[in-house]
Parts: sequence; C-alpha cells; structure tokens
Amino acid sequence: MRLAGLAAGTTTDARPRLRTAFFASNQRVAPVSDSLAPDILLAPDASVASVPVTCVSTDGLERYLGDASPSVAGWVAANGFKAEAGSMLRLAGEDGALAGVLFGLGKGHGEEDPFLLGKLATDLPAGTYRLEGEAVDAGRAALGFLLSAYRFDRYRKRTDKGVRLVTPGYVDRDEVVRIAKGVALARDLINIPANDLGPVELADAAIDTVVAYGGTDRVIVGEDLLAENLPMVHAVGKASSRHPRLVDLAWGNPDHPKVTLVGKGVCFDSGGLDIKPGSAMALMKKDMGGAANVLGLATMIMDAELPVRLRVLIPAVENSISGNAFRPGDVLPSRKGLNVEIGNTDAEGRLILADALALGDEEHPDLMLDLATLTGAARVALGPDLPPFYTDDDALAGAIEKASVAVADPLWRMPLWKPYLKMMDSKIADINHITSAPFAGSVTAALFLSRFVEHARSWAHFDIYGWTPTAKPGKPEGGEGQAIRALYAMLKERYGK
Ligand code: BES
Ligand code: MN
Ligand code: ZN
Repeated sequence: MRLAGLAAGTTTDARPRLRTAFFASNQRVAPVSDSLAPDILLAPDASVASVPVTCVSTDGLERYLGDASPSVAGWVAANGFKAEAGSMLRLAGEDGALAGVLFGLGKGHGEEDPFLLGKLATDLPAGTYRLEGEAVDAGRAALGFLLSAYRFDRYRKRTDKGVRLVTPGYVDRDEVVRIAKGVALARDLINIPANDLGPVELADAAIDTVVAYGGTDRVIVGEDLLAENLPMVHAVGKASSRHPRLVDLAWGNPDHPKVTLVGKGVCFDSGGLDIKPGSAMALMKKDMGGAANVLGLATMIMDAELPVRLRVLIPAVENSISGNAFRPGDVLPSRKGLNVEIGNTDAEGRLILADALALGDEEHPDLMLDLATLTGAARVALGPDLPPFYTDDDALAGAIEKASVAVADPLWRMPLWKPYLKMMDSKIADINHITSAPFAGSVTAALFLSRFVEHARSWAHFDIYGWTPTAKPGKPEGGEGQAIRALYAMLKERYGK
C-alpha cells in the first residue's frame, strides 16, 4: 500500500515533486537567516561617528575615576555604578546628547559571562558604538553582539533596534558574521512552529541551504524509504499526513576528507502512541533542533570553504498518532539489519538516527557527527546549557573539548559505557531501543546509536537541548545553536584552511 497523496519518491529534483497539492508549503524558509540586520558590525572608519563604550572592571574603577572629570565622577557616585558585570551607565554631554557609556566588566577576564558585551545590542539606544577602556577580546565582543542582536521576527514586525558596533580592524568581521549567521539559521528553524515547519519545509530549508552553496540534493520520501532500506525513518514518520523523508545532501570536492553530519529532524514530537503529557509536549516543535544545528554548522563550513567533502543527512519526520502509527511492542527492521524491539514510541529520535547513521557509515567517512535533541535525561544530568557528547575517539574528544573552551560553546564528555548495552537486551529481537530501568538515559541512547556505526573513522554524538529557557547575554530566549560553534572551530583545526 502506498501512502495516500504521495506521487513521487526518490528524486534529485525534489522541489516540484515535493510540492503536491496537499502538502505544498506557501512560504519557504530563508536559506540563510536574514534575522541579522546587514552591516550591524562596522569597519573602523573615521567618517563614522561613534559613541565610546568604556569597559571598566571593578578593580579598574578607581583608576578610571582618578582620570575622570568631577562631573563624571559625581554622576558615577550618584548612580551607584560599581562596574559590576554587565552594568551600564550612560554619560550625557553638555548638549544633553549621549556622550559615552560605562560598561562594567565585573572582575573582568570574561569569567562572569563570555558574551557579556552582547548586552550592548539589547540594552543600548539606537546608535553606533565603539569599545574603549580596559582591553577585552574584540572578536568575542563582536560575536556576542551579533548573537544578542538576533530576533525571531517571522510573525511580527521587525524589531531591529538600530544598534551598531564598530569593530577594530584586526577582527575578522566576515568570520564573525559567518558564525552568527549559522547560529541564526539554527535558531530560526527551531523557532518556527510545527504548523509552518513540517518534514516538507525542513527538507526544503535543508536543500535551499546546501544548494545555495552549489551542493547537490537527494530526497527519499514516504514509501520509497522502504524501497531504499530506511525502514525505521518510515515507521516513525508514517502516521503523519506530512510524510517522512530522508534528505541526503552533499557539498565540496569528492577528493577531500569525508565529513558527514546527521541531524535529528523530528518536526513535532507528540510521543506517538506513548503520548507525552501536555507539559512535556509544549516545546516539541524544537525536536528538529539537531537538524537545525547541523544546517547551521553546514553553512559555516560551506561559507568558509573548508576543504572537506561534506554530507548532510536529515531524517525529517513528525512523530504523530494515527491508526497506522508504530506501536510499543512492534519489532522494526533497520537498515543495519538489526531487528529493533520498540519499548516506547516516544524514543523515536534514536530510531530515525540509527538508519541515517547506518547510511552515512557505509561510505566510511573520516568523521561522522550527529546532533539530536535526544533525551530528557541529558537535561537532568547537565541542564539546558551544557550538552553532553559521546565518542570513543579520545583524540577527537580532546579536540572538541579544546574548541568548546576556546569559543565558549559549552560541551561535556560523557561515557559510552559499554556494560549498559546489556540493559537494552530484547527477549524477542536483536535489541530493544530503550532500557527497562530508568537509569543513564542519555548514555544508553548514545549506546544504542553506537550499534549502527561501524566504519566511520571517528564518530561523535551530541545530545543537545537546542533551546534557551531564560535569556542571557548572547542567548536570547528560544531556539539555540549548541555545539556548532565548537564543532566549526574543531573542524577548521582538523582540516586546516
Ligand atoms: N525529544 C525527546 C527528548 C527531549 C525531551 C529532548 C525534552 C529535550 C527536551 C525524545 O524523543 C524523547 O521523548 N525521549 C524520551 C525517551 C524515553 C521514552 C526513553 C525521554 O527522554 O523521556
Ligand atoms: Mn520522543
Ligand atoms: Zn524526540
């Protein structure tokens, strides 16, 4: 039986054929985010007037006041400005115009918050600013500024505040913008609700992103997933009228080292028949956060023209409920050949990833990375801002940790603790995809995935959250780029440029 309304399957010219009368999307997602106002970072140029933002640490405040005019010193005292981290004091000129801003660094050294200076983008009035005073990392400040300036304005008027930053000449503005745009794309895709971003629209966004850089696309849709031996992608997604699909994108010189990115693309996770309670379902539009982040990382790689042959695999599905939904107790065949007993339809992510990882693994890539909003257990262990990652390659883990610290993109290695594989033994199939006991949920999910990776020279899995629950400097509330700035830095180091 073929899925109703589904005409086409495997195709290299996916767009027209995906646009069936039933499931056409009216609005394509922008290939590269335009959430950032152009020229938000300015080159140092004598002709552009800018307001100085003077950076002062708590220890440096006395020195600053020693050199300040009595009226400025009095204003600082009257306002109780103590240079605490992120505090700001505006200084008026004699004409009443904004003459300067004092910015508190706290103890300094970026300890309080690596993107503290991002507050300039959100807390200052429209204008053009430049940094002065105590030395800060100007590149970090510029990135923090862009990350803070992000707004999700798809459903309401633009809210560009008109705040601009002049960056010193030694800052690589193109690189800063490249990274910020990758993060903004990931955020946009996560923030778009599931009614406007289903498997079709996610696939379109992925295709647009890679094709814009000259890459190639292939999409396997609906029943063709069975013919192409991706049975678990099909099983998880078949209950939705928005048919499941596997997006397979390639970019770069085929002779370069093969880097494969795999992203969980569950456009909405209801839990399936093991339905989630309302409170747990509320945010599940973000369950394609792995795919969104993989696309953000891909834009950074392609835009920088890293010498790699990039492949992006995105299983895009909706975990829905219907008469034909997969069930707890079902046994699913998989691409790898293992029969998988279904313990809980809400553990859908690892199923679609397993098939996608097995596919990616077949060409023996030099490096395979997967990103997924895979488990609630990862959040219990490390909270929303510190995603765990897993790999058996100690050198790769070291490189990831080093990059993570260098670019302030927090990650924490957790173990692929092999003895726990036992917890996924099945009495009737090759493996169960969950454990019966509520232990080590993120570790066991990673272990399950590891069963589908055999030939990749190195593999790492990132159990991300993809969401900032409360805004911080550089991190507006909502969809979030996680792990991708660190991975981009690691890839630049590994493959050179
Ligand atoms: N998408 C969820 C995991 C998730 C939940 C990530 C909340 C981030 C925030 C995933 O598909 C899921 O439901 N996992 C279950 C697995 C369980 C049934 C073994 C979980 O973590 O509860
Ligand atoms: Mn789930
Ligand atoms: Zn999920």
